[in-house]
Amino acid sequence: PGMSLMKHYLQFKDLRAEEYAYLLERTAIIKKRFKNYEKYQPLADRTLAMIFEKASTRTRVSFEAGMYQMGGSVVHLTTGDSQLGRAEPIEDSARVISRMVDLVMIRTFEQSKLEAFAAHSRVPVINGLTNEYHPCQILADIFTFIEHRGSIAGKTVAWVGDGNNMANTWLQAAEVLGFTVHVSTPSGYEIDAAVAGIKNANCYKVFADPREACRNADLVTTDVWTSMGYEAENEKRKLAFADWCVDTDMMAVAQPDAVFMHCLPAHRGEEVTAEVIDGPQSVVWDEAENRMHVQKALMEYLLLGRIG
Ligand code: CP
Ligand code: NVA
Repeated sequence: PGMSLMKHYLQFKDLRAEEYAYLLERTAIIKKRFKNYEKYQPLADRTLAMIFEKASTRTRVSFEAGMYQMGGSVVHLTTGDSQLGRAEPIEDSARVISRMVDLVMIRTFEQSKLEAFAAHSRVPVINGLTNEYHPCQILADIFTFIEHRGSIAGKTVAWVGDGNNMANTWLQAAEVLGFTVHVSTPSGYEIDAAVAGIKNANCYKVFADPREACRNADLVTTDVWTSMGYEAENEKRKLAFADWCVDTDMMAVAQPDAVFMHCLPAHRGEEVTAEVIDGPQSVVWDEAENRMHVQKALMEYLLLGRIG
């Protein structure tokens, strides 16, 4: 495709509902092929550069394994082992890296840094997590919900905890795909609708009590109390978040068939009890695996457009 057709995936709202419908269908096909050991290598000779300015397990393994499975290859860069850590401008890095690879995934701090890279990139750029958003994770979460429970349209997702990158992205997904998020955060850690980047205030509802946010929810989800980049606030956050722990009482007021999700890594005894995350309603391992399948569909879409 020509340059004019080039798409980036920097926030969840960068794609429309019908593009998500397509991607979720493709994901199911791609996942089935993987499970059946069917070779599918449409990205032969394509290269993905992965830039990590923060730590990762799932994001790295899922993109790297996914790219190899599709016949492509990867280049892994971190701040410390590249010129990114020695103050080469992000715009120059984008110009150079994007002349040698076909696709770039970046995990960094400010969304503005990702946007600056994308603005100077010749190839599509994917958000692998920023302080503000984590769209690939929510894409995996939605695919996982659909696998277990069917369509997410009209459903209720309870968000318990920090008004962080995951929370912001859930709100965007609710706006694009037509569901509702019940949000409960400690005071001082609220959602900022402007940062979340949503127009429709009806896609979420705020609850002071995390238990109330979970009432009748179809999906209950949480995240670490302290995200990467906020480690200096760790002790303060431990005090503020003490009541924002998803436990069996919270799961008991949700729908009887509610699923529990967590993007991982998890801290048992902090944001979730072991009973819940290791219990029968938890789908966290499918959720983690599905990162790879949704991202394979996403990479295929950004590089090749619609198949068939
Ligand atoms: N959920 C997630 O993005 O995990 P990693 O930080 O391990 O990549
Ligand atoms: N909110 C967490 C998610 C980690 C995958 C963070 O940004 O550290």
